[in-house]
Amino acid sequence: MSDHWKQIEKEMESIRAKNLYRQCKVTTGIDFCSNDYLGLSKHPELALAFKNALENETVGSTAARLVRGHRQIMEDWENEFSLFVSSEASLTVANGFVANFGLIDTISDSRTMIFTDRLNHASILDGIRISGAIKKYYNHLDLDHLEEQLERAIVGEDTKSKKKIIVSESLFSMDGDKPNLQRLVALKKKYNTVLVLDEAHSFGVFGEKGRGMAFADLSREEIESIDYRIYTLGKSLGLEGGIIATTKLGRDHLVNRMRSFIFSTASMPAIYAAAIKSLSLLRNMGQERIHLLHIADILRMGLVEHGFAVAPTISHIIPILMDSEEQALYYSAELQKEGLDVRAIRPPTVPTPRLRVSLNATIQESDIRNLLANLIRIREGKKANF
Ligand SMILES: Cc1ncc(COP(=O)(O)O)c(C=O)c1O
Repeated sequence: MSDHWKQIEKEMESIRAKNLYRQCKVTTGIDFCSNDYLGLSKHPELALAFKNALENETVGSTAARLVRGHRQIMEDWENEFSLFVSSEASLTVANGFVANFGLIDTISDSRTMIFTDRLNHASILDGIRISGAIKKYYNHLDLDHLEEQLERAIVGEDTKSKKKIIVSESLFSMDGDKPNLQRLVALKKKYNTVLVLDEAHSFGVFGEKGRGMAFADLSREEIESIDYRIYTLGKSLGLEGGIIATTKLGRDHLVNRMRSFIFSTASMPAIYAAAIKSLSLLRNMGQERIHLLHIADILRMGLVEHGFAVAPTISHIIPILMDSEEQALYYSAELQKEGLDVRAIRPPTVPTPRLRVSLNATIQESDIRNLLANLIRIREGKKANF
């Protein structure tokens, strides 16, 4: 065996020894772990829109959008989406990961300072890494800490010419909590920084007609002062793709400079046609949004009442903190046996092991009661094991 494969084998052994081994599992049971928050991925009207589009378009786009991969339906989609989120323009890319990664790489260089919440998504952190920018972490949701870092950055004369970027999620994917968006925008203005806000998990659930957290917490003027907003088609919209909402100039710049856009085949045209349908369904799902937040309240209160360690979530993403990776895996396996698809999330995805329960609007109150009863049963039955 070559040195390379020996090293890989050793790494895998170490992953297993730490209970951090991961495997893709075929989906079964009631969905308590996807990001399909409105259940749109299985909506018959969306499936039909996708099927019809396949008949009218080539299946694959055949090339990058700057070559022969571009279609009218892509422009129609981006215009509709921009209108919906009050953005001058938007650009759709392969997925949300590419949106964050490619955007941050494109707008930064080694003289840029990027201020990032410690718990921002891997796509944001990897974008910073690949750009070569100077990374400044601030503690999770701690905007006093962010301001201290910004103050420190402007003190040094030589740093004055550096571009500064603040980047945060508007609803944290693994914790279900959110920053004070008004303060974030105020800091952006006070320190004259660029602001990138990732709306991946709030879109479809929060804000008027599901427009996202910015619409729940900010004025129109504040929203429009955010330089880039990131959305994904892969969560509430039930499809796949990433969207960067920005100014016309910002979009034009990305089309000319963003390597992961320029040098990659455009997504299947049918996805854009389906996206238009999905957006028209999503905006009218007010009852589903109310139901989703209602069942989230029931679960959160039930967990707290029964003494589970619940992270301070305000949303449909409810992390149940576990003492160890082993315990998280055990609970997940036991719940799976009951047909309840709850997954253990472990380092390095999160600093502390947990069950990340993410609810969707197709879940019934009886499912929530079933989940709670099983969590209690597992804890009572197996206390001795931990
Ligand atoms: C906050 C955040 N941004 C971006 C992404 C990436 O989006 P996508 O799954 O569309 O690649 C994720 C994925 O989970 C995410 O949690």
